[in-house]
Amino acid sequence: MLRWGPMAKTKTRYLCKECGSESAAWMGKCPSCGAWDSLTELNRVIGKQGARALDGVKRRGMDPVPLSEVPAESATRGSSGVDELDRVLGGGFVPGSVVLVGGDPGIGKSTLLLQVASALAARGETVLYVSGEESPGQVRLRAERLDALEAKILFLASTDLDELREASLNLKPALVIVDSVQTMADTAQEGAPGGVSQLRHVTARLSALAKDRGFPLVLIGHVTKDGQIAGPRMLEHMVDAVLYFEGEERGAGRILRSVKNRFGSTNEVALFEMTGKGLEALSDPSGFLGGRHLQGEVGSAVTVTWTGTRPLAVEVQALVSSPRYGTPARVVQGVDPKRVSLLVAVLEKSTGMQLGGSDIFVSVAGGLKLDDPATDAALLAALASSFTGKPVPEATVFLGEVGLRGNLRPGSQVADRCREAERLGFKRAVVAAEAGDLPPLARRVDGVVALVDFCASESGKAASP
Ligand code: TYD
Ligand code: MG
Repeated sequence: MLRWGPMAKTKTRYLCKECGSESAAWMGKCPSCGAWDSLTELNRVIGKQGARALDGVKRRGMDPVPLSEVPAESATRGSSGVDELDRVLGGGFVPGSVVLVGGDPGIGKSTLLLQVASALAARGETVLYVSGEESPGQVRLRAERLDALEAKILFLASTDLDELREASLNLKPALVIVDSVQTMADTAQEGAPGGVSQLRHVTARLSALAKDRGFPLVLIGHVTKDGQIAGPRMLEHMVDAVLYFEGEERGAGRILRSVKNRFGSTNEVALFEMTGKGLEALSDPSGFLGGRHLQGEVGSAVTVTWTGTRPLAVEVQALVSSPRYGTPARVVQGVDPKRVSLLVAVLEKSTGMQLGGSDIFVSVAGGLKLDDPATDAALLAALASSFTGKPVPEATVFLGEVGLRGNLRPGSQVADRCREAERLGFKRAVVAAEAGDLPPLARRVDGVVALVDFCASESGKAASP
């Protein structure tokens, strides 16, 4: 049996900065994710003192109960007041849930959350906004600019976990926003704010509090370019949802996507534009993502990706060129490089195009990340177009997942994707010819592809499969 001694003991463990996994000994390479030189020392206090450190919330006595007798959780989601955010959250904030919003400094995290605070406060709900980064004056200025000055937004400039805790216990807010989790610290805990042990400790205590009191909690976190310690990546497994805010360095477009969501799909993306009055939903997402009619451009193709609740037309680009020096370069943005390698191999094998020795660059418009397999066909078309120097057919979208044999599978939501392409004025979709999944109006071209001509379809509607 395990007995605690009278004194607290310190146990040294090693935590990976990249993936957050722990090991008992220091190693040059993380045994879990394979990152080099990523293990840092974590002194964990065990024993009574350690238990006390975590007693922020009185735990309810827990005896096993029949699952069938557990009262159904009234997971009534509350809208965040920002529709695009609700979309990524899967319908709004779930009471007691913890959402981590990560992103580069200056991308718009504080702006978004202030807009959320203002929307909730305007509905009469109390929102606690804790900032360890900015002064009340700075935040007020931003709120004025956003037209978000609401009496029910209660602002606390603090970096002290206990102050934050007290404020949330007193105010019983409908939402607590912590900007940023890296600035918060528990004075009773060793380690600097933003360090591994403080970050984990603060997150654990705050989420226990949120769960106990039933308020949703938003933690804002900075990601440094190299995913360093300050990065919230190691917190990912401690929270319910992780949203990342991204955008191209120049340009006002912002994409918020979820990489983890216990309460919804992770395919969903929110698309915003940073304007003089804060973040606004993009009125024409497909336009922003390059879902336009290409006219004779070599190396580009348009596909329609499915994000969970909506189709988005997006342009993918490829550049295939002979390498100047030695090993060919592969620079891939917005898609998994392994998929590009696979598509290159399929092209070589099935068409004889020798791309393997070439430099290959691939990117997706708007900074979107595509992990939808049905976008393979467009990637393949863009690669082939760049290699041959011939543009893809005009006003055409490419849909379908490419198999190892060079076959094309339809992928999901073919009809919805076709409808979106038609709405945007595309004339034709290249889809999979695989039997059984062919839309009624599709013309089989060969064993692999079929064409759907939108103008030929009756009453202007794309065919459903
Ligand atoms: P901010 O929300 O402070 O970023 P983060 O919290 O992620 O560090 O956003 C900062 C940028 O947004 C800054 O460059 C100014 C710009 N901005 C606007 O363009 N319009 C606005 O209405 C606001 C408030 C900010
Ligand atoms: Mg900020």
